[in-house]
Amino acid sequence: MLRHFLSLSDAGADGVAAILADALDRKAARAGWPKGRADADTPLAGHVLACVFEKNSTRTRVSFDMAMRQLGGSALVLDSGTTQLGRGETVADTARVLSGYCDAIMCRTDDHAKLEEMAAFASVPVINGLTDASHPCQIVADLLTLLEAGKALPGLKVAWLGDGNNVLASFVEAAALFHFDLVAACPQGFQPDDALIARAGGRARVVASPREAVEGADVVVTDTWISMGQAHAETKLAALAPYQVDADLMSAAKPDAAFLHCLPAHRGEEVAADVIDGPQSLIWPEAENRLHAQKSILRWCFGQIG
Ligand code: CP
Ligand code: NVA
Repeated sequence: MLRHFLSLSDAGADGVAAILADALDRKAARAGWPKGRADADTPLAGHVLACVFEKNSTRTRVSFDMAMRQLGGSALVLDSGTTQLGRGETVADTARVLSGYCDAIMCRTDDHAKLEEMAAFASVPVINGLTDASHPCQIVADLLTLLEAGKALPGLKVAWLGDGNNVLASFVEAAALFHFDLVAACPQGFQPDDALIARAGGRARVVASPREAVEGADVVVTDTWISMGQAHAETKLAALAPYQVDADLMSAAKPDAAFLHCLPAHRGEEVAADVIDGPQSLIWPEAENRLHAQKSILRWCFGQIG
C-alpha cells in the first residue's frame, strides 16, 4: 500500500516518532558537511520527487529540493502557473502523468480536497506541502526542534496565539499523537473548527485570553495573521492585535519557554521583534529542521523507516 503523508495521522504516533528519531540521527551524521554533499548511504539514489506549487514558498521549496539531493536523488520544482495545471488540466490527470515520470509527489495547494484527489489518482506517494487545512511537514520540524531543545513532548504545555489556521490544525493533531497539551488563544471568528479540537481527545482547547494560554507554557507559537490566499482584512488585523506575542506576554510563560514561528514572519504584527529575534526564539533551527524533517518524511514514504 502506498504511503501518502497528507496528515500526521497517516504516519501515526509510531511513524512520526520513527521520522523524528531518523532525522536526529541523520542530522548528527552529517554535521559540518557542505550542504550539497550527499549522505553516505544515499538511500534515495535514483529517485526523483516532483514538487508542485500552487502557492509561494521559500522553505518548503528549498528544503525538499535539498532533502532529495542529500538523500542521493533529485527534485523537479513545478510552479502551477507554468504548467498545464495552471491552465485547467485536472489534478487527477496531473497526478497520473507525474506518477509515470517521478517516484513521489509533494504538493502545496489551497483546497485540501485537491491534495486528496492527487493522492487518490497518483500511483506514487504524495506529501502535503501545505494546504488551507494543514501543514504537517512544518509540525514534524517543530517537534524535532523541541526535542533538540531538550523538551520531551508528553506533558508539555504548548500555547498557540492568534489565527486558528492550517499550522495550528497540524499542531492540534500532534498534541493528540504525542500527549502534550495545546491551548490556543484565538479571537471570536478566527478560532479553529470545533471538530478539529474534538479530534484531539481532550489534549487541545481554545480560550479567548492570550494570557490564560501562555500562563506556565513550555512553548509559545504563532503564525502570520493573514495566510496565503486570504484577503488582507483590517477587521481581522484589529481582532488579532491583542494576540501579538510580545515580551510582556512571553514573561507569563515558563522562564525557559521556547518561541516558535514557521515563517515568514511579520514583526510588529503577530510577534514583536524583540521576541522573535530574542534569546528564547528557536526560529532558525526550526527553519533548518524543515530539511532534516523532510528527509525522514521521504524515507518513511518509501517504506525505509517506521
Ligand atoms: N514555513 C513554510 O512553509 O515556509 P514557506 O512558505 O517558505 O515554504
Ligand atoms: N499559515 C501560513 C503558513 C505559511 C507557511 C499560510 O498558509 O500562509
